[in-house]
Amino acid sequence: MTYSFALIGYPITHSMSPWIHEQFLRRAQLDGSYRLEEITPEQNFSERISELRANELDGFNVTVPYKEKIIEFVDELDEQAKKIGAVNTVVAENGKWIGYNTDEIGYVRALESDYPEIKRKKNTPILLLGAGGAAKGIYNGLKRAGYTNVTIANRTTERAKQIITANDFVITLAEAERELAQFSIIIQTTSVGMRPHDTDTIISLKNIMKEAIVSDIVYQPLKTKFLQEAEKRGAAIHFGHTMLLYQAQYAFELWTNKQPPMEHLADQLRQELEG
Ligand code: ATR
Repeated sequence: MTYSFALIGYPITHSMSPWIHEQFLRRAQLDGSYRLEEITPEQNFSERISELRANELDGFNVTVPYKEKIIEFVDELDEQAKKIGAVNTVVAENGKWIGYNTDEIGYVRALESDYPEIKRKKNTPILLLGAGGAAKGIYNGLKRAGYTNVTIANRTTERAKQIITANDFVITLAEAERELAQFSIIIQTTSVGMRPHDTDTIISLKNIMKEAIVSDIVYQPLKTKFLQEAEKRGAAIHFGHTMLLYQAQYAFELWTNKQPPMEHLADQLRQELEG
C-alpha cells in the first residue's frame, strides 16, 4: 500500500512536517508521500476541505490557524481533541474522518525520551510557565501521564486558574522566580524568546536548583536564551524541536499502526533546522 498524507494550515511553506514524515516512512519501510496543502485566508475553507475529501488521503495534519475550524468537518472526535477543543491530526478510516490531538502526548513523550528517569518520579515538582493553548495541552498531557505535582505560573494568573485541576497551584511569574529552587522540572510554554526576540527570557533562572531539567518549547532559535541560562547554571536542558518529532510520531502511528524508530532523528532535525 502507498500512503498519502498532507498538512493543512497557513502559512506552511517552511513546515518541517514533510521532512519528518518522510523520515518516518523510510524508517518504517513504508511507501508513501506527505504534501503541503496550504489554505490561504482568501480561499473558501469548506471547498478546499471537500477537495481533500475527494483526494482520498489516509490522514492529514492540521496546523495554525485551522486546528479549531476543522472540528466541524470531522465525523468523530477523540476524547483528547474534544477536551482541548483543537485537532492537529485527522485519520481517514473507511471514508470517515476522525480528529485527534497528538500535541499533549507528543510533548510528554519527547521529555520522557530525553529523561526516562522522570517516569519513576511522578510526584516530582513541575513548574509550567505560561497559560496559553500550548500550556493547556502540556498540562493535560502531564496529568494524563500521571504527574501529580504541577504548578502553573503566568503573567495573568486568572488564565492559569482556568487550566489547573484539583491539587495543583497557580503562582505569579515573580513568585516562580523567587521559589524556583522548589521545582525539579521547569517548562517554558510561551513564545517569549522566539526569534526575533532572542534575548528575552520569561523569568530569571538565578534561583534554579542545579539538578533541574529546563525545557523550552520555542525552537527558533534552538538554544533559546532561557536554555542558555539554564545550562550556564548547571541544569539539564530539553529542546523544543523534539516536541515536533514526537507529536508527529504519534500521528504517524495513528495513520499506519507502526511506530517509527527515533534514533538520532532529533539531531538530524536539528541540523535541518540550523540549515
Ligand atoms: P499559545 O497558544 O502559543 O500558547 P497564547 O494562547 O496566546 O499562545 O498564550 C500565550 C502565553 O504566553 C500566555 O501564557 C501569555 O501570558 P498571558 O496569559 O498573561 O497573556 C504568555 N506571554 C506572552 N507574552 C508574554 C510576555 N512578554 N511575558 C510573559 N508572558 C507572556
